[in-house]
Amino acid sequence: MDFSEKQEALVKESWEVMKKDIPTLSLYLYTMILEIAPEVKGLFSFLKDTNEIPKNNAKLRAHAVIVFKMVCEAAIQLRGKGEVVISGSTLKLLGSVHLKKGITDPQFEVVKEALIRTVEKGMGERCNEEMKDAWSEAYNHLAAAIKTEMKKEEAAAH
Ligand code: HEM
Repeated sequence: MDFSEKQEALVKESWEVMKKDIPTLSLYLYTMILEIAPEVKGLFSFLKDTNEIPKNNAKLRAHAVIVFKMVCEAAIQLRGKGEVVISGSTLKLLGSVHLKKGITDPQFEVVKEALIRTVEKGMGERCNEEMKDAWSEAYNHLAAAIKTEMKKEEAAAH
C-alpha cells in the first residue's frame, strides 16, 4: 500500500481543522448522506421518526465523529504499517452493528461521498483533489476492513 507521508499529513491536518466544529460537521455529513440516499433514513434510530435531522443528538454526533476519527486513524496506519488494523473488540462491534443493520456496499459508497463533500465544505478553499483523494483512499481501506469482518460474522452465523 502506497499511502504517502503527504497524504497522511493532508488527512491529519484537515481533521484538526474540521474537529473544531463538530456540530456543524456532523449535521452536514448527515444532510449529505440523506441528500444522496434518502432511503437510508430508516436505518438510523435518531433519524427514522423525525422529519428533520436533529441538531443536538448525541448518537448522530457520535457516529459522525467516529467515522471521521477512524478514517483519520486509518490514514495514519496506512502510512505506518501499509494496512488498516482495527483492534479486536472494536472490529467485532463494527462488524456486528453494520451486519445487523444490513449495510450494503453501495451504502458504504454513499457515506464516502458524503464524507468527501463534508471535507470540501469544512476546508473550503484549502480543499483540493489531493486532499479528497487521501480521505477517499483511507476510507476505502477502513470500509474494506469492516466489510471483511461483516462477511466473517455472517459466515459464522450460518
Ligand atoms: C466506514 C466507516 C464507518 C464507521 C467507522 C462506522 C462506525 C459505527 C459505530 C462505531 C457505530 C456505533 C456502534 C454503537 O456503539 O452502537 C455505528 C453504528 C451505525 N452505523 Fe456506522 N460506521 C461506518 C459506516 C457506516 C455506513 C456506510 C453506514 C450506512 C449508512 C452506517 C450505518 C450505521 C447505523 C445505521 C448504525 C446504528 C446507529 C443507531 O441507530 O444508533 N455506518 N457505526
